[in-house]
Amino acid sequence: MASLSTQSVTDVHHWNESLFSFKTTRDRSLRFESGHFVMLGMEVEGRPLMRAYSIVSPNYEQELEFLSIKVPDGALTSRLQNIQVGDEIFVSSKPTGTLVVDHLLEGRNLYLISTGTGLAPFISIIQDPQVYDRFDKVVLSHGVRYASELAYQQLITRQLPANEFFGDEVNEKLIYYPTVTREPYKHEGRLTDLMASGKLFTDNGLPMADPAHDRFMICGSPAMLRDTCDILGGWGFEESRQGIKAHYVIERAFVD
Ligand code: A2P
Repeated sequence: MASLSTQSVTDVHHWNESLFSFKTTRDRSLRFESGHFVMLGMEVEGRPLMRAYSIVSPNYEQELEFLSIKVPDGALTSRLQNIQVGDEIFVSSKPTGTLVVDHLLEGRNLYLISTGTGLAPFISIIQDPQVYDRFDKVVLSHGVRYASELAYQQLITRQLPANEFFGDEVNEKLIYYPTVTREPYKHEGRLTDLMASGKLFTDNGLPMADPAHDRFMICGSPAMLRDTCDILGGWGFEESRQGIKAHYVIERAFVD
């Protein structure tokens, strides 16, 4: 395992009973690309217990931010959900991952398809000004069971459009498409169904996905990744592997 550094928790935010986020100090030497993950953990029975966590914060922020579910009997999250400001956690020193824009071919529209905490890397990516230089539209879609899980809505819909450096690009290019599966909401249904029916595209005034123009980044559960990749494969999209640029990327570390 990559070497670990010890960081202090600087902020904890509980979104609802099943979801929380937290910030930590960041080593000045830690470098990462938007979309990368680190191994993160705590000491359990005298040993570090580590899990992969995508970095939520943009790479120019002084602190690191992470998003986590609370699993009552989860080995790590049952403990992590009780962290307080000032507590220490371990963070691996070498962020890595395949969910990076540089692995995508040039394209017109970028679709960020996430479910649950799969939103995390995309919050970093939508705060990266380079993404707006590369694409005409950036569609951030987030699928959750209940509306209370739609984290970071204030940031996405209020703070980013007002950003003093790239707010204009956000206003022009970022489209936010949240969808809820288990209670009524403006947009309902699984993202896979909304892709297959074409609703994800028509609702946003965009043409059906086309490998010639559109690029996808996908982050969610292993089942969601499989189903979404199947749809894209059926449409002729190819996944980037070993850093060779292609039409879409997923985080291979999160695949079963
Ligand atoms: P659903 O409520 O129909 O299961 P989870 O918390 O289980 O990861 O789910 C987060 C969101 O992802 C939910 O809206 C869930 O819908 C949806 N989801 C679960 N499995 C898939 C899948 N295989 N493809 C697309 N969406 C999925």
